[in-house]
Amino acid sequence: MSDPAKTDSTDQLIVTIDGPAGSGKSTVARLLAKRLNLEFLDTGAMYRGLTARALDRGIHPLDEEYAVVELARHQPMRFDWQTDPPRLYVGDIDVTDRLRDADVTGFVSPVSALAGVRQVLVEAQRRIGREHPRLVTEGRDQGSVVFPKANVKFYLDANTQVRAKRRANQLKEAGKHADLEQIRQQIVERDHRDSTRQVAPLICPEDAQHIDTSDMSLQEVVDLLARRVAERMGARV
Ligand code: DC
Repeated sequence: MSDPAKTDSTDQLIVTIDGPAGSGKSTVARLLAKRLNLEFLDTGAMYRGLTARALDRGIHPLDEEYAVVELARHQPMRFDWQTDPPRLYVGDIDVTDRLRDADVTGFVSPVSALAGVRQVLVEAQRRIGREHPRLVTEGRDQGSVVFPKANVKFYLDANTQVRAKRRANQLKEAGKHADLEQIRQQIVERDHRDSTRQVAPLICPEDAQHIDTSDMSLQEVVDLLARRVAERMGARV
């Protein structure tokens, strides 16, 4: 019997990393991709990019859901794969520097809960998977919805306090203001919204390896994942 966790093509090596905000997914995924010589897709950036573009065009994400979905449909999103990390464009506009701004972070969760938005972005992610078939992709639904046949699936988690500290450090490193308690509150609210929404809620896929990173260093997490991928894929890595 064929294993549903395996992809059909022998050229394809898709590793999915899902998990809540601040679980370390983005950094781990980027480093793992480098280590294994794979490309890296940050799908949260796509939801953030759309949110940024909507806000910058004066669309209110909560009052004008229809306009947000229209924007997603008519302003295709693309990464510039020549840059490292790839810069993100919505239509002709480079939104990369807006992705972590507080207003974008504040509205991205409701934007990502819109069924019409998910439909467009999931399709865009699958297309990227076809064009870049050796890929580490991270988000909330990569193993459960977007790439159900991924070769290796991980779900990274960590306790709320640790996750808030990691997010605060990320912001500080980017030269932005960071209030730890406020960030912790936002993480709790966002987790709740992301995991209780109707469309593609955050879940740990049954066939994913669940890893609690609370007491692990970044390097330990990357080493562990690289080992697990090698165990599963052997010479194909
Ligand atoms: O990982 P992040 O913080 O950049 O994600 C931003 C938001 O987008 C977060 O609220 C969850 C949502 N998201 C999603 O719903 N599905 C994805 N595949 C990636 C992110």
